[in-house]
Amino acid sequence: MIPHVLPTYNRANLAFERGEGSWAIATDGTRYLDLGAGIAVNSLGHANPELVATLTEQAGKIWHVSNLYNIPEQERLADLLIEHTFADTAFITNSGTEAAELAIKMVRKFWSESGDSDRFEILTFEGAFHGRSTGAIAAAGSEKMVKGFGPLMPGFRQLPWGEMEALKAAISDRTAAVMVEPLQGEGGIRPLSDADLRLIRELCDQTGALLVLDEVQCGMGRTGKLFAHEYAGITPDIMMVAKGIGGGFPLGAVLATEAAASGMVAGTHGSTYGGNPLACAVGAKVMEIIAAPEFLAEVNRKAGLLRQKLEGLVAAHPDVFEGIRGQGLMLGLKCIVSPADLVKAGYAEHILTVPAADSTLRLLPPLNISDEDIAEAVARLDRAASRLDA
Ligand SMILES: Cc1ncc(COP(=O)(O)O)c(C=O)c1O
Repeated sequence: MIPHVLPTYNRANLAFERGEGSWAIATDGTRYLDLGAGIAVNSLGHANPELVATLTEQAGKIWHVSNLYNIPEQERLADLLIEHTFADTAFITNSGTEAAELAIKMVRKFWSESGDSDRFEILTFEGAFHGRSTGAIAAAGSEKMVKGFGPLMPGFRQLPWGEMEALKAAISDRTAAVMVEPLQGEGGIRPLSDADLRLIRELCDQTGALLVLDEVQCGMGRTGKLFAHEYAGITPDIMMVAKGIGGGFPLGAVLATEAAASGMVAGTHGSTYGGNPLACAVGAKVMEIIAAPEFLAEVNRKAGLLRQKLEGLVAAHPDVFEGIRGQGLMLGLKCIVSPADLVKAGYAEHILTVPAADSTLRLLPPLNISDEDIAEAVARLDRAASRLDA
C-alpha cells in the first residue's frame, strides 16, 4: 500500500521535535549536532530567540494579506534586499523553485518586450540544481530529474560544468541568458573560479545575454559574503535567493535590475502566499542580522576554524576523504567512500550531514555555530570516518 505521505524521499529513520542553535533533538531525546541545517536553511540555528520573537510578534498581528494590498513587511524586506545588493527590485516567493520559475519568465519577457521573442535559449550547466518544477528540471536537465517527466519545456541547453571554452562556443547574440550557481550545492560543492565568473559576465555583456545567478544555496552569508558573486566583483542581472533567507520559514526572492525586470508589469506574475507578512517579517530580521559586516566577519572566522580542523580530519583518514572544497560555511568533503555511508556513520555519532553529487559530503552548519560546536562536530566526524577506515 502506498504510504499516506507520497514516498518521493529516501528518508532516514529519524524524527526531530525540537532544536536549539546548532542542535536538533530527536523524539527519543538524542541530541544531534546539525551540520546540515535543513540543507542550508536554518542559517541562524534552530529556535533562534530573535527569530522566534519576530515570528511570534508578527503572528499576533497579521499572518496573511493578499497582494491585492500593500504589504509593509514585504516592502521592508525588499528595501533591505535592494540596499545590500545590485538589485533595483525584488519579487518575494515561498521557495527557490518559485524563484527559478520567475527568473525564467523574466528572461523570456525581457526578450519578448525587446521585440525578440525568439530569443529564449537559456544556457545552463551540467550538475546544476534549480528546483523541481517542470521549468527548473528542464533548466538543469539531469537524467535523474527529468526521466519520465517529458516532454520537457524547451529553451535550455546544458554545458559542461566550468568549461569556459564550451560556453564561448555556445553563447551568441541569440542567447537569452546564462543561468548558473556560482558555487554548485547539489552538484557537489563545486565552485566556479572568480576568473570564470568574470568571464561569464563579460561574455554576457558582449552578446547582450542576461546573467541569472542562482544563489539559493550559496547566498545569504553562506560563503562569508552576503552573496557569493561578490567575491568575483561582478553583479548579475537577475538573482534567485531562498533557503537561508527565511532562517527556516519558507521564503525566497528574485532580485533584478530595473532593465532586466522591465517587462514584469502588473498582471504578468503573482503568488497567493509569496510576500506574506509572516514570512517577510522573519526574512527582514534574518537580513538585518546576516547583512551586518560584523556577522559576516564572524562567519569567515568560524569558516577558517572549521576548515583548519577539517584539513586535519582529511589527513587523518586518507582512505575516506580526498580533499575539501567550497567556501565559507558551505564546505564539501570529497570522499573516497560513499558519502551516503558517511552520512549514516554520522547518524551513529549523532551528527547530521548531507550527501551531494560527485562523491561529496556537504557541511552546511548554521552560520552562527559556536567554536565549541565546530570542535565537537569535527570530533564526531572523526569518529564517523573511523567507522569507515579501511
Ligand atoms: C541552487 C538551488 N536552486 C534552487 C533550489 C530549489 O529551492 P527549493 O527547494 O526551495 O524550491 C535549490 C534547492 O536545493 C538549490 O540548491
